[in-house]
Amino acid sequence: MKTNLSSSTPSQLETDCLVVVVLDRAEKDKPAPSVECTDTAVREAAKEVIANGEVTGKPFETTLLHNPSGLKAKRLLLIGGGKTKNFSAAELRKLAGAAVRTLIGKSIRNFAFAPPERGVAAPDAVRALAEGATIGNFDPGYYKSDRRDKDKDQKIDAVTIVVPGDPKVLEGSLQIGRIMAESQNFTRDLVNEPSNLMTPNILAERARKMAAEVGLNCEIYGADKIKELKMGAFWGVAQGSDEPPALIVLRYDPVGAVDKVHVGLVGKGVTFDTGGISIKPSDGMEKMKYDMAGAATMIGAMRAIALLKPKVKVTAVILATENMPSGKAQKPGDVQIAMSGKSIEIINTDAEGRLILADGLCYARQLGCTHLVDAATLTGAVVVALGHVNAGIFASTDEIYERFTKANQQAGEKMWRLPLDDEYKDLIKSDIADMVNAGSRYGGAIFAAMFLKEFAEDTPWIHLDIAGTAWMEENKPWIAKGPSGIALRSLVEFVKGWSA
Ligand code: BES
Ligand code: MN
Ligand code: ZN
Repeated sequence: MKTNLSSSTPSQLETDCLVVVVLDRAEKDKPAPSVECTDTAVREAAKEVIANGEVTGKPFETTLLHNPSGLKAKRLLLIGGGKTKNFSAAELRKLAGAAVRTLIGKSIRNFAFAPPERGVAAPDAVRALAEGATIGNFDPGYYKSDRRDKDKDQKIDAVTIVVPGDPKVLEGSLQIGRIMAESQNFTRDLVNEPSNLMTPNILAERARKMAAEVGLNCEIYGADKIKELKMGAFWGVAQGSDEPPALIVLRYDPVGAVDKVHVGLVGKGVTFDTGGISIKPSDGMEKMKYDMAGAATMIGAMRAIALLKPKVKVTAVILATENMPSGKAQKPGDVQIAMSGKSIEIINTDAEGRLILADGLCYARQLGCTHLVDAATLTGAVVVALGHVNAGIFASTDEIYERFTKANQQAGEKMWRLPLDDEYKDLIKSDIADMVNAGSRYGGAIFAAMFLKEFAEDTPWIHLDIAGTAWMEENKPWIAKGPSGIALRSLVEFVKGWSA
C-alpha cells in the first residue's frame, strides 16, 4: 500500500473516497456529533445525516455518502471516533484501520483521510494514520486460492493523508509510521504461517533474507553450536523433534552508537508446541503454530530498527525449535543443565518456552547485552489474568519499567505490569535440582517470569508474555482476526529511547 501526504483542502481533493471523523462532544447521554473538519463544504455535505440523527459519532460507526455535493471526492465516509475527550493518536490509528477494512469490503482501492485538526498534533496524526491503515490492510487469508493472486487480493492500493503542515516534518512521521507498520505486518506474516511451512529453519531463512535486504548481520546456528554452547535447556526441548532447531542471531551495530548500552532482544520461536510428552489436548492445538510469535516480533523489530537507524547497539537472539513427543523427547523428571550452569528438573515438558529462553537470555548476556527484553507466548495463565486485551509486562527494576512503559505509551499498545516479588521464589524450588520448570497452577505467569529471572540475573530485564495478545481471536473493526504483531512498536520505541 502506498501512503502519501497532501495539504489540499479536503473538498478539493479528487479521490474515490474522502474519510473524515465524527466525534461526540456530549458530556452525558444524548449524542452531540461533530464532523471534525475545518472545511465547511465537508461539514455541509454531512449536514443532513447529522441533523436526522443517523450519525452519532460512536466508535467505528461508518456512514458512506455517494456523490457528496460540493466535494470533488466520489464518496464521503464518516467514521465515528467516540467522545471528544477520549480522542488520541491511539484512537486515530484504529480509525485508519477501520476505514481501510470498511472500504476494502466495498471494492474501493484508494482513499484519502483528513484527520481532525485538534486533539492530536499533525505529525502524530500522520504517523498514527500510516500505521493504522497499513495494519488494517493485512490479509491473513493468504492461502485461499483466489487471494494468492496479486491482482485479486483484497487490499487497498493507496492512502492519501490530508493535513496542513511542514512537509519535511510530516514526511518524516509518515516514514516512521510506514516502517513500523510494514515491519509489524512482516511479523504477522511469519506468525500466520502454519508449522509445516514455518519450521525453525524456514524461520531462520526468512530472517536471513530480511537481514540481507535491510543490511543487518545474521548468523544461523544448528544443533552442533547449541550443544557446543552447552545450551542444555534449549536442547532438552529441541531433542524431541525431527525438525532441526535454529539459533538465530541478528546484529545491529551502528557507528556512533551511544556508550554502555547494548540492548538484547530474546524471542521464543517454538514453531509448533504439542506440549511434548506432557502432551496438550487436541482441542485448539492448531493454535500452537503461533508459539513462535515472540521470535517473529523480535525479527520484525530488528527490521524496523535497521530501517529507522537509531544510534543504539542491538542484538536479537532467537531460539527456534518444535516441541514434540517422540522416542528422543525429554521426559518429566529429567534434569537438564542450562548454559548458565544451573540445573532444571523438568516437571512438565509443556513448560518449554521458559527452557529455551533461559539459554537465550544467558547467551545474550554472554554476547555483552546490558539490557534485556524477551517476548514470548509463554503461559495460558497470563490469558487467565489479563484476557486478550493486555500483554503482561514483568520488569526486574522500576527504572527499566519506566523506560519501557514510556515507549509502550508512545506506541499505543496495551500492556499491564505483573509482580516479581521475592516471596514468589519458593515456587520454583526443586528437591533434586536448582529449580523446577513448572509448579502450581496459581500465579502461573509469575512462576514463568520468576524462572526466567534466574537467567537474566543482574542484567536489567523486561519480560513480555504475549500469549493472550499475539493472536486476535475475533475480527475487530481495525484489525483482522489472526496474528496481531503486538509488542513490536513498543520494542522499537524502547530502543529508540536510548538514542535520545
Ligand atoms: N505455548 C504455551 C502457552 C500458550 C498458551 C500460548 C495459550 C498461547 C496460548 C506454553 O508453552 C505452555 O504450554 N504453557 C503451559 C505451562 C504449564 C505447563 C506450566 C501453560 O500455560 O499451560
Ligand atoms: Mn508449551
Ligand atoms: Zn509454548
